[in-house]
Amino acid sequence: MANFKIQNKADYEQSFQESVNQPEAFWNSIADNYTWRKKWDKTLEWNFTDPDVKWFINGKLNITENCLDRHLEQRGNKIALIWEPNDPKEMSIRYTYRELHSHVCRMANVLKKLGVTKGDRVCIYLPMIPELAFAVLACARLGAVHSVVFAGFSVNALADRIQDSGCKLVITSDGLNRGAKQIPVKSVVDEAIASCPLVEKVLVVNRLNWPIQMKDGRDIWYHEALSHEGDSCQATEMDSEDQLFILYTSGSTGKPKGVVHTCGGYMVYVGYTFQNVFQYNESDIYWCTADIGWITGHSYILYGPLLQGATTLMFEGVPTFPDPGRFWQVIDKHSVNSFYTAPTAIRSLMASGVDHVLAYSLHSLKVLGSVGEPINEEAWHWYHTHVGKGRCPLVDTWWQTETGGIMISALAGISDLKPAHAGLPLPGIQTLLVDNEGNEITGEGVEGYLCIKFPWPSMIRTTYGDHERCRQTYFSNYKNLYFTGDGARREEGGIYRIIGRVDDVINVSGHRFGTAEIENAINQNKKVVESAVVGFPHDIKGQGIYAYVILGEGASNDNHTRDEIVESVVEYIGRIAKPDKIQFVSGLPKTRSGKIMRRILRKIAEGDTSSLGDTSTLLDPLIVDEIANGRL
Ligand code: PRX
Repeated sequence: MANFKIQNKADYEQSFQESVNQPEAFWNSIADNYTWRKKWDKTLEWNFTDPDVKWFINGKLNITENCLDRHLEQRGNKIALIWEPNDPKEMSIRYTYRELHSHVCRMANVLKKLGVTKGDRVCIYLPMIPELAFAVLACARLGAVHSVVFAGFSVNALADRIQDSGCKLVITSDGLNRGAKQIPVKSVVDEAIASCPLVEKVLVVNRLNWPIQMKDGRDIWYHEALSHEGDSCQATEMDSEDQLFILYTSGSTGKPKGVVHTCGGYMVYVGYTFQNVFQYNESDIYWCTADIGWITGHSYILYGPLLQGATTLMFEGVPTFPDPGRFWQVIDKHSVNSFYTAPTAIRSLMASGVDHVLAYSLHSLKVLGSVGEPINEEAWHWYHTHVGKGRCPLVDTWWQTETGGIMISALAGISDLKPAHAGLPLPGIQTLLVDNEGNEITGEGVEGYLCIKFPWPSMIRTTYGDHERCRQTYFSNYKNLYFTGDGARREEGGIYRIIGRVDDVINVSGHRFGTAEIENAINQNKKVVESAVVGFPHDIKGQGIYAYVILGEGASNDNHTRDEIVESVVEYIGRIAKPDKIQFVSGLPKTRSGKIMRRILRKIAEGDTSSLGDTSTLLDPLIVDEIANGRL
């Protein structure tokens, strides 16, 4: 019987061995720690060819009974959720498990009245306010599939996501706070659903007291609907393999795909990994700074911590408002013990100077975490030394939207730490490196494409509405392997260092964008004939976006046109995907078959023009010199 809680290195090693030698027995004993309405008949069926993966077959459950109901007896008065507002002058709110349960049930009752039933898709487009947590859990309670869209996405991006998954209800707010600014939200929804005929109702949370347009018969104020609802709501019985949520993520094609996670396996894996990676203790206060619009927020603000009966903090604001000490002030204010953030936030706070950190005691901190992109050594040391005061283990957690939960990471206080290295795979995760042909690269001190050869419970099941795309993207590159899209090194002791994406995906401040997706947005601008986008190293964001653009006749290659192109990207994707540099070119380096040689464009963007390789096979070799000479 595997222990749910790993307490030392020997436990880890034993669990890992067991998970490889007897995966089904291993996961059975982990899954036994949750509440099931009916136990599963069979642990696993799988093949990576179709792909077809099923865990805990015929098991029946509701994840919210595991996140909420089962804690009520022992932890009813324990704080489940602390909400810290954008403005430090506004009061924070603390919800006990009992209160959170009641809010979720009331929201679920509202949704039920609006006609939401099991299997319906609900789009949640909300800022980081408590109602976002209630909405996610209320959908799960009813068995509706939530599709949370980050509230920074634009009209077009939102409309695409609503349409792709056929949502009939959108939950949103009047506006949102972001540092010193207030930004409209509901008007974005209004515009988006003009092209989404399936949307019947829009539920609106009042965050800013803004006078907004409400459409009769379609738009409903949440606080008004709520006043009629009681605080108990029977949870819908779900099958392990029923869909729990869809979360859109970018890949190497122009269209983001809806990654689908299912109820049973996702629950088992995120609770287990939350517990062990952060070594959560009953009285700890845990804070993950991600937005619930991304997978990190789903798995490690909401589901993982609540499954383990933890106290989880949700923050509405930004790291730099009202000043760059805000994170550290919140840590002292709420006596946060575990703090999980992204390297980009650390690097931007580093740039504001250490005095902002030194102004706070941070004595409550016990564990630090990093996620979303490789953390460079300088940022690692700064974080470890100034925030963790050299005494807090810093776990660098590697995983993806598609993996559902953390895959490679140190376990806080248990594993040895090596700066900028994610570490060893967690129990149940059978990683390997392969070369171009898919041959396994064994040994240490080696580098290759990171793949996984055995299923784990929270893995992607499909891409919504297009299973073939799931097969193509993740399971067709190498036979019988899940391909992550990342390159990695395996070092002494088997620990991994993640190098980064090897496909046409750019990781900007820990957020993924496909180059084709950004090019599509740029090409919407009528002055643009063609464009090519690559990533380049950026001090704060990790990677920045470098766009090479060919303009049409008569368009002037000046900053005004640059601004217009940036606006196209803001309109089609959102501010988060704004290009950092736009270079106007007269052509692009293409092979005779018309393929753009991105390798050359990447080198130029990185400033490495000395080793561009053989360019003689290009359609127009001279274009390379022109582009290199005009580099920004
Ligand atoms: O390239 C890897 C990088 O982020 C990608 C996954 O992005 P997303 O699905 O948006 O999920 C981000 C949060 C889990 C990966 O393919 N990545 C994520 N974590 C790390 C990382 N790269 C290096 N080190 C990490 N700790």
